[in-house]
Formats: sequence, C-alpha cells, structure tokens
Amino acid sequence: MAVTVSLALFLVTTFVLSTHGIIYTQPEQVHLALGDGPTEMVATWVTDSSTKVSIVEFGLNNLTQVAKGIEEKFVDGGSQKRVLYMHRVKMTGLKPGSQYKYHVGSSLGWSDLYTFKAIKNGTDWPVRLALFGDMGNENAQSLARLQEETQQGHFDAVFHVGDFAYNMDTDNAAVGDAFMNQVQSVAAYVPYMTCVGNHENAYNFSNYKSRFTMPGGDGNGMFFSFNLGPAHVVSFSSEYYYYTNYGWKQIANQYKWVENDLKEANKPENRAKRPWIISMCHRPMYCSNSNDPEHCTNKENTIRVGLPDIHAYGMEELLYRYGVDLHFTAHEHSYERVWPTYNLVVCNGTKSKNPYDNPGAPVNIVTGSAGCHEGVDPFEPVGFPWTAYHSDDYGYTRMTIKNTTHLFLEQVSDDQKGKVIDTMTLVRDKHYAGMYDCHLKQKKKN
Ligand SMILES: [Fe+2]
Repeated sequence: MAVTVSLALFLVTTFVLSTHGIIYTQPEQVHLALGDGPTEMVATWVTDSSTKVSIVEFGLNNLTQVAKGIEEKFVDGGSQKRVLYMHRVKMTGLKPGSQYKYHVGSSLGWSDLYTFKAIKNGTDWPVRLALFGDMGNENAQSLARLQEETQQGHFDAVFHVGDFAYNMDTDNAAVGDAFMNQVQSVAAYVPYMTCVGNHENAYNFSNYKSRFTMPGGDGNGMFFSFNLGPAHVVSFSSEYYYYTNYGWKQIANQYKWVENDLKEANKPENRAKRPWIISMCHRPMYCSNSNDPEHCTNKENTIRVGLPDIHAYGMEELLYRYGVDLHFTAHEHSYERVWPTYNLVVCNGTKSKNPYDNPGAPVNIVTGSAGCHEGVDPFEPVGFPWTAYHSDDYGYTRMTIKNTTHLFLEQVSDDQKGKVIDTMTLVRDKHYAGMYDCHLKQKKKN
C-alpha cells in the first residue's frame, strides 16, 4: 500500500495529467555560453512544459547563489507544431577563474549537478579551445573524445562552427532535442559557442536561434562577438548569402555590424589588450574538396568575393583590411590548413622558416570533420596552391592562444585514436588593421 501511495505521489509531482496531456517539467539539454565578461556565464535548457520560472542555483562550494532568468515558448515549424520552453539564465558576479557547481530548473524539477570554471580575468592567459563543425546526432564520431577531454578540464570553451544534429528540426525537432542532450556532457561544463550552418536553415533558422543563447550581436546568435583572454572572436552567418528567401537586407546589416565590430576591436586601446582577432562562419572561402564546386573550385566563392556579379559584401577583403588573424570555417567534412592567402594568392611570412611567422594575409582553417551521417568529403587529386595540409579523417581542432604573439593549433584524428596529425604555430609580433601586405605583392605581379 505504502509503495502504491509513494508511486502515486511521484506521478503527481513529476507528470501531471491535465486536459492538455502530460506536463513534463524536468530540465534537459543544459548548456553554457559566455556572457558579457569573465564574471558572467549563461545557462540555457529546455522543458517540455512551462515552469513559469527559470532558476540557476550555483556556488563555489554549495549552491548558495541564485540567478533567475526568462522562459520563452518555442513552436517548431514542423507538422506537429511542437512546443518547447527555452530557459535562459545569466549568472553574474562570478569570481573569475573559480570553479563553480550549479544546477538548473525550478521547484518543479532540477537538473543534475554540473561544474564550470568562470573565465579568467584579464588578457594575459593561455586560452585552450576545441573547434569543430558538422557534428550530427548520428555518427558523431569525435564526441566521446571531446566529452573526455572537456571533463578532464582541457578546454576553456568549445566552438561549434555550424551544422548541428542533421538536423535540429528533423522529426518535429526531436532530433534537435536528442542532439542537445548528446552534447550536454560537453556543453554543460564549458561555454559552447556557436556559428550557424546550412543545416539550420529550416523555418528561418528557428531551432538554432531558439536553442542557443549567444552574447550581443543580433540577439539571435546569427552574428555576434565576444572576448576571451587575448582574443576577440567574431561569429557571423555565411547562410544569409544563400538563403535569401528569408530576406536580402540581413546580408548588408550583418556586413555593417561586422565592420563596426572590427573597427571597435581595432581601436588601439582594444587591440593592444586583445591583439588576436579570430572570426568564424560555416562555409569556407578556401578548400580543396572535389565534391563541392560551389565553394572549393569556384573562383567567385560568394562568401569570399561577395554576391554574384555585383561582388558586394565579400568577407575576405573585410577580414583582410581589419587585420583578422585567423578565420575558421567547416561545411566540408574534412580538415584543411590553408597557407596565408588573399585573393587566391599565397602570402606566406618570410621572417623565418615558418610560413605562419608574421604572414602577409589571414590564415583560413576548415574544420568540419567531427562526424555526421553524411560521411567525409574527398579532395581534388591535385590540390590548390593554398592547400598546406588536408585530411579526411574524422576529428577536431585543438587550439591554444598562448600569449599576445603566439598561437598553437593542432588537428586530432579520431580515426587514428587521438593522434595529432597536423600542427601550426601562428606568430604575429604586432597586430593592427592594415598589417597585411599581400595586396602589394599582387600589384607587383600585375
Ligand atoms: Fe554545411
């Protein structure tokens, strides 16, 4: 009898049957993102039913601090018009560099207990990152290694450079739910910073916009920027150029915003503190895959040179002009390290034997081999002049921004049990807008 009563009570408190069906208020899909500085961290999670309130309890030793946020109703665009509730809570007043415990939810249900490290103060500390794109729900081959390394404390943040879940909207967004639960063992421990990809395009990118909470920018994670140690990072949408059915204006709006952001980052007082400028968008400007004529063999690559015919809003010239050091992309299911290149001409540094020692142009990296059901992408048998190294092993990129002058990057092959298959040390003595000279080399040639 006692067992029956307890069971009934359990059912009443967790699954309340109403005339509208089952109410389920247990938090899931917990993930973190950077806030507006080292004293902030944002938690986002999902419930199937409204909880009205959204709370994070957190603290250094015990859960003594409370932050409250907002609940937003999300209606998926699929045939079932599924409703989910997105909860966003910003933790403030964090002690930079300290380890916190936290859980999320409300009096109607709490998540498991997680930990995170508040971002360190200042700009003089080595930032350790994992970067990858194109990770699906199925065949997410690199995920186990990323989970292991994240939980062992190897990363300060993770960047997912577009294409999630394949796709988040599939099966009335059930695949999005499954994916976000799958990456929770990474994303609940370190800020999971994003960039939008083509696989997010359904219903005007609504699953992407709703499921993540990125800082500033357009407020929807399509374009935004943040600071991390000695780096300023800009994430923008390559998809605006391709899904113009959702509007043309956003291409110009984004371009203007990125330009202003880069101007601000280049103010002498800002660039002195954060000399590295790193950008990311999903589709590559440079690649050597044989099955992608739209991007790799196309000399008029839209992201690179701008809109067809009119060549407006090309991103390569903008990144070059404002002295962006490094540009990450994905989309190709492979890894490619590109020589410092501008306008299809390679401009390696000549200071030392290392071509990445004060190069004459930004460095492009393609890292889209995390793993998805579509498999990997092959390469052109004869590469392009800009190809420094490429591999179609499944894997991901690790990067340490060591200090203001040195940045180290390595590619991990999951196929080869975690072996590092490529490395690069990017050196830059002084960073400033207009620091590149590759256009001069090209003028001479002409
Ligand atoms: Fe893609």
